[in-house]
Amino acid sequence: MTTDTSNQRTRVLTGITTTGTPHLGNYVGAIRPTVQASLNPATQGFYFLADYHALIKCDDPARIQRSTLEIAASWIAAGLDPDRVMFYRQSDIPEIPELTWFLTCVTGKGVLNRAHAYKASVDKNNAAGNDPDADVSAGLFMYPVLMGADILMFKAHKVPVGRDQIQHIEMARDMASSFNHLYGNHLVLPEAVIEESVALLPGLDGRKMSKSYDNTIPLFSSSAQLKKLISGILTDSRAPGEPKETEGSALFQIYQAFASAEETAALAKAYANGIAWGDAKQMLFERIDQEVAPMRAKYEELINNPAQVDAILLKGAAKARAIATPLIQELRHAVGLRALASQGKSGADSAIKTERAAAPAFKQYREKDGQFYFKLVDPQGRVLLQSLGFALPKEAALVIAQLQQNDAQVLTLLGDKLTLGEGFTEAEVAAALSVLQAEIAEKTKSKV
Ligand code: TRP
Repeated sequence: MTTDTSNQRTRVLTGITTTGTPHLGNYVGAIRPTVQASLNPATQGFYFLADYHALIKCDDPARIQRSTLEIAASWIAAGLDPDRVMFYRQSDIPEIPELTWFLTCVTGKGVLNRAHAYKASVDKNNAAGNDPDADVSAGLFMYPVLMGADILMFKAHKVPVGRDQIQHIEMARDMASSFNHLYGNHLVLPEAVIEESVALLPGLDGRKMSKSYDNTIPLFSSSAQLKKLISGILTDSRAPGEPKETEGSALFQIYQAFASAEETAALAKAYANGIAWGDAKQMLFERIDQEVAPMRAKYEELINNPAQVDAILLKGAAKARAIATPLIQELRHAVGLRALASQGKSGADSAIKTERAAAPAFKQYREKDGQFYFKLVDPQGRVLLQSLGFALPKEAALVIAQLQQNDAQVLTLLGDKLTLGEGFTEAEVAAALSVLQAEIAEKTKSKV
């Protein structure tokens, strides 16, 4: 069973997919804030290179290798201290794919059908009149489970991610609840952390800086390259002396992400006074170079000495495995992959079986108003969810079926057809629903 974690530091974990070269948008949006956050003594940081995830998107081995090196070197050069945090490569932790399989077996296929990334590919195929699964690998389909294993392997409490990843964290929570429900309380339910204040950086063409738009400025280009790229930032055609708009100016927004409030105000004033675009670009170049130059030497040193980076990552993996190995042992035992002569803790397996019966349940009824209602009650009889009235029992049953399939629906149905039970949060109700789903999955499984 899980050991007492009450006085443990909050574990913050995030992964970086190793398919590209870090650019200024990655620096401002992820690297810089994460390095800052890693200094907080109340937290323990887990930062890893998600190279198994990279294989889902990229089949170019040289690119995966190069990107892994560049990302590792960038994070260290930007101030991440591998002695202070856990900094490792996903593929150095063999426990992660093993946990992926355990989680695969407690995750509904229907849940994965609804994952955004997979659904987007299917929708695109449908729109083009192709087979829905054309060019969709099982890797893409399984992406959320691998990500769940990344997170649950280290009992992470907080997972800082972009908005597009929130669904994956919710799925990881559900996987943890299902696993715990079936096998006892082994895994920690993680929470997504969305950093609202972090700037989204525009790229050279004014759209969001992103590899897919080919509009990026690499974080570690040489000074000369940096200058050249900055001179290519899209501006309007206003001549020197003409006042310029800060709003919608990519150049201004990038400057703001690097400059102090005073410096930003000064540039705004210079815009109003008609600064020439060439001069504004020079200011931007100098400001960025001032921040990047001190890190560049460290970056170059690491890039030119990949064996040193390997050593750092392997040391990180050893630290991480000191956590992963005992946990996977515990989980192997819990699911029944154990020495045949081992007894298990006395009665532990049957105790879990008894606990399992304690799933929440739906109760349907008709009120004096003639309408049909239902509620979801926990094993103690407390109301988790209360429906509004339905004219037909069929309508109530439909909503129940939806809830049994996918707890995320609860969030969209709240207010309209459902209200939360007093004293319960959406997250608690979602967790209770995933216990119920695990129960249903369990029943189906025994029929196989
Ligand atoms: N999927 C994440 C992304 O594309 C990367 C990632 C992989 C990750 N595993 C993770 C992020 C675990 C947080 C936690 O951004």
